[in-house]
Amino acid sequence: MFGRRPAKAVELLADGRHRDEIKSLNVTAAVIDVSFEVQPGEIFVVMGLSGSGKSTLIRMLNGLLPHTSGTVEIEGTDITKLGKSDLRKLRSEKVSMVFQHFALFPHRSVLDNAAYGLEVRGVARAERDAKAREALAMVGLDGWEHKVPGQLSGGMQQRVGLARALAADTDIILMDEAFSALDPLIRRDMQSQLLELQESLGKTIIFITHDLNEAMRLGHRICVLRDGRVAQIGTAEEILNDPANDYVANFIEDVDRTRVLTASSVMEDPIPVVDPGQGPRAALRTMRDNQTQSAFVVRRDRKLVGGVNETAIGEAVRDSVKELDGLVDSLERVHPDTPVADMFAQAAESSYPLAVVDDEERLVGVIPRGTLLAALATPGGNDDQAHEDAPRVETAESGKTADTAGTADTGAEPQSEAAQPQPDPGGDAPATEGSRQ
Ligand SMILES: Nc1ncnc2c1ncn2[C@@H]1O[C@H](COP(=O)(O)OP(=O)(O)OP(=O)(O)O)[C@@H](O)[C@H]1O
Ligand SMILES: [Mg+2]
Repeated sequence: MFGRRPAKAVELLADGRHRDEIKSLNVTAAVIDVSFEVQPGEIFVVMGLSGSGKSTLIRMLNGLLPHTSGTVEIEGTDITKLGKSDLRKLRSEKVSMVFQHFALFPHRSVLDNAAYGLEVRGVARAERDAKAREALAMVGLDGWEHKVPGQLSGGMQQRVGLARALAADTDIILMDEAFSALDPLIRRDMQSQLLELQESLGKTIIFITHDLNEAMRLGHRICVLRDGRVAQIGTAEEILNDPANDYVANFIEDVDRTRVLTASSVMEDPIPVVDPGQGPRAALRTMRDNQTQSAFVVRRDRKLVGGVNETAIGEAVRDSVKELDGLVDSLERVHPDTPVADMFAQAAESSYPLAVVDDEERLVGVIPRGTLLAALATPGGNDDQAHEDAPRVETAESGKTADTAGTADTGAEPQSEAAQPQPDPGGDAPATEGSRQ
């Protein structure tokens, strides 16, 4: 709660009053009844429109903002009970933060900026420089150590911000709209890099964004905030396929589903399958029984051999061919985790459905082209929508990455940066944080 009589406001809210009703108390209820747990190594995304309470929430997680009510536990310690110096220690050793507008010191070198967290912690020069160099290398900035931020592009400056958090080597990293100031292509690049770093370093990341596509791409789980309250918490697929309410449903209308849905969520059972030991006649019968024009050739250990089609098999039967050998076509394969967006080019290359195979090359599902297109329709949307959507995505995809990424990222931006309120005087810059100490 922001304002003079926060306790009274909490009381009224607990009684079920709406946050507009407590405005008369001159209190802004920024975060109300928000409860969640984040697992170690998880990327937990908080998303919502401007003013929904994201920044307030994330700043309570490291004690930058005092809470009015409730608890924030980190590894079992309720940080709302910590004093100032313990909170400072927490911020320097356990929880680092990456800000939207880089928050770099303009007159310090890139190296010193990256080493800032360690410097605050009192780490000796040689050691902190070594760690900062290492972190800068992780984000692809080796060779830039002795420049100053002004000599770097926006994307590079953002990387310095990330390097600072990595150099501090805290288990938890909070990122408040860290990529929002970047243009869409660089932003996508940064997202990929973050995913890679998270995978190799296993950091726990709380990531704030108002871009749904970014949320869906990065988040293991996503918390959608509305007016300070939780509208839904779930995985991207849960939110897409089963929005908790109309608000969330409206929100996800414009999402690029092809980037969120993966092969495993759209695949169908592989039917029919034939054994490589069977002859063309048996294969033909299997196809006729199932009323399909093709079949998957799969060994007993479920490993995929390939596909056969009715025309070739029919001719083979007429020519009295006894073996399937030589009649089996190789199939386009995708992994269960492949995003739908990355499958269109492959799907276009083959007359067969795409084969979904696991790490052992076992066939776990298939994706007919029609299924791929249907996956683009919103749940409850009619078929026309699917067909309207499909060619557009396919065209973008044939140009591969750049255009698709561009449209995807800008398309779902619910609010422009310009529409956001001015940064509050509490300030993001480390200089301000320093001056509080
Ligand atoms: N220091 C403050 N004093 C008073 N009210 C504040 C303060 N900071 C935020 N608020 C109010 O709290 C509410 C939530 O703001 P917050 O900054 O958390 O939103 P946000 O979701 O981060 O928005 P944005 O996407 O614009 O950054 C808003 O109504 C805002 O006006
Ligand atoms: Mg904010």
